[in-house]
Amino acid sequence: MVKHILAIDDVEEDFHKILKWAIEFKRLWKEGDEVAMNFFPLDSLAVGSIYEKPSTRTRVSFEVGINRLGGYPLTLLKNDIQLGKSETVGDTSQVLSRFLGAMTYRCYAHADVEELAKHATVPVINALSDKHHPCQSAADLMTVLEHFSELDDLKIAWVGDGNNVLHDLALACAILGIDIHYAIPKGYEPDKDVMDRVQSLAEKNGSSVVQTNDPVEAVKDAHVVYTDVFISMGEEHLKDKIASFDGFQVNEKLVDNMDENWKFMHCLPAHRGDEVTDWVMDHEHSIVFDQAENRMWAQMSLLAYLVSEGAWDAMYEFMGLE
Ligand code: CP
Ligand code: NVA
Repeated sequence: MVKHILAIDDVEEDFHKILKWAIEFKRLWKEGDEVAMNFFPLDSLAVGSIYEKPSTRTRVSFEVGINRLGGYPLTLLKNDIQLGKSETVGDTSQVLSRFLGAMTYRCYAHADVEELAKHATVPVINALSDKHHPCQSAADLMTVLEHFSELDDLKIAWVGDGNNVLHDLALACAILGIDIHYAIPKGYEPDKDVMDRVQSLAEKNGSSVVQTNDPVEAVKDAHVVYTDVFISMGEEHLKDKIASFDGFQVNEKLVDNMDENWKFMHCLPAHRGDEVTDWVMDHEHSIVFDQAENRMWAQMSLLAYLVSEGAWDAMYEFMGLE
């Protein structure tokens, strides 16, 4: 059966291994290791990426990463293809499956990426929908693993909107057994079904999930604070929403409540002066550009895992990972 990644818990069983693979592959590649640099599991396969919304990180990291794995990236902007105008998502999926080795899709409604996957005969990766952003959470947890060797007592705090990025961050933390505390203004809580999945993963893996309306409570002694824009793509008409986020800015005063070795994370793009100040963004404890870079390494691991599991396994073994 074809595997898809529509939310990060779709790879729950191998998530930690996928991240370890990405970290070690990145290290070897940067050292110029011959085996890593000549690892081409996509072997001339074309990977098509459909975008309904703008993107910098996702688009560039997929294009460069696919090339580095020996594949051929095809970026398909919605205005340039028939999708949504004269062709359904299902028909588009069946046509593209005849040409491509895998597809990625950035869409508004999560139901559309589910529909694409339903009709696809090749793997589909969600490149952000209104509900999930699994590639982001893979890069995020990869970055956390690079910065913290001990996960047991780690506390990650989220301050902001209960959105797509929080959903997959919380799922990813719960899969790895990391505590997550999230502060959300009333009325902007995350999706109940997703948080039920988070809760059951956290119970299984021995971590806690705590919701509050108080940012100070969420970040108290936390090792990481994560935020995102208050108004996501597709919500531009909800300008009034921003007033509800008064007091939810990550700034010097808020991070003063955290562990002294605090780190700041953001999926980017950041709206400096809204959800985060320049002081925090540009602080030496900010790891936002590590996250951005890790989009590529994490997605390379996910793609190789999905499209060529045998080659991904062989590389895992070559790298001597447990
Ligand atoms: N974080 C993220 O997905 O960035 P882009 O919108 O630039 O792809
Ligand atoms: N929550 C944001 C994330 C952007 C990467 C959005 O959906 O627009």
